[in-house]
Amino acid sequence: MQGYEQFKKNVLGLTGLDLTMYKERQMKRRIESLIKRNKIDSYEEYFKKLKSEKEVFDEFMNYLTINVSEFFRNPEQWEALVKDVVPELLKTRKKIKVWSAACSTGEEPYTLVMALSRIFPLSDIKILAVDIDKEAINKAKIGLYTEKSIANVPDDLKKKYFEPLGKTYKISEQIKNRVEFKQFNLLKDTYPKGYDLIVCRNVMIYFTDEAKDQMYQNFHDALSDSGVLFVGSTEQIISPQRFELSPMRTFFYQRD
Ligand SMILES: C[S@@+](CC[C@H](N)C(=O)[O-])C[C@H]1O[C@@H](n2cnc3c(N)ncnc32)[C@H](O)[C@@H]1O
Repeated sequence: MQGYEQFKKNVLGLTGLDLTMYKERQMKRRIESLIKRNKIDSYEEYFKKLKSEKEVFDEFMNYLTINVSEFFRNPEQWEALVKDVVPELLKTRKKIKVWSAACSTGEEPYTLVMALSRIFPLSDIKILAVDIDKEAINKAKIGLYTEKSIANVPDDLKKKYFEPLGKTYKISEQIKNRVEFKQFNLLKDTYPKGYDLIVCRNVMIYFTDEAKDQMYQNFHDALSDSGVLFVGSTEQIISPQRFELSPMRTFFYQRD
């Protein structure tokens, strides 16, 4: 389909989303299937609809941002976080400042609160959670989840922090209160500073190598001394020393 270059510029103007930073083949394939689903056959015509019809716009943003998530995704890595990584951080500090970058519908930051509750009292836990997708953040704040998405939550935590509600499970206010949500574009906005633990999982896979390099540099700068970046299970960093990060154990990198 013709017209992708102009479409990227138009989308940037309309949404602030820079599609040139996302892997092109994958992105084009996704957008074109969405265009066809709307029974349209050009980028130009589709963009007109995006501008004028809220439903088409919301569908576009939702579809592109792929919000798939679950609690305790890759459980063994969360175990390593609690058993090894945080105790290592605590050798040089008493509390840790934590950021969940690309938090989707809340599963990851709420998992962080529950995992850290094994170490700290809840009142000492505060997580910053950000995502580009406002709808996902709204869902996170509501905090209703399917049985499947909470399948990996350890039984004691499930009992303590989830209340069955029809076919769903509602996360407790005690957990919710520990998380502050914000809309944030990891490709554009200024990163906050001084984080001892940054969790950024299953989002880098969508970005070009140049975009990734910039993000790793930004994460390095956002970490405190010897702070740790926790990445997704297919997102190991190639030559992390380029960003002054050292592998600590698989999926965890420490600022030099
Ligand atoms: C597959 S989910 C990952 C959720 C969670 N981190 C996990 O591992 O389960 C990817 C998330 O990245 C978000 N995202 C995509 N591009 C982004 C950007 N430029 N800035 C911030 N978030 C972004 C999407 O909205 C989506 O919620």
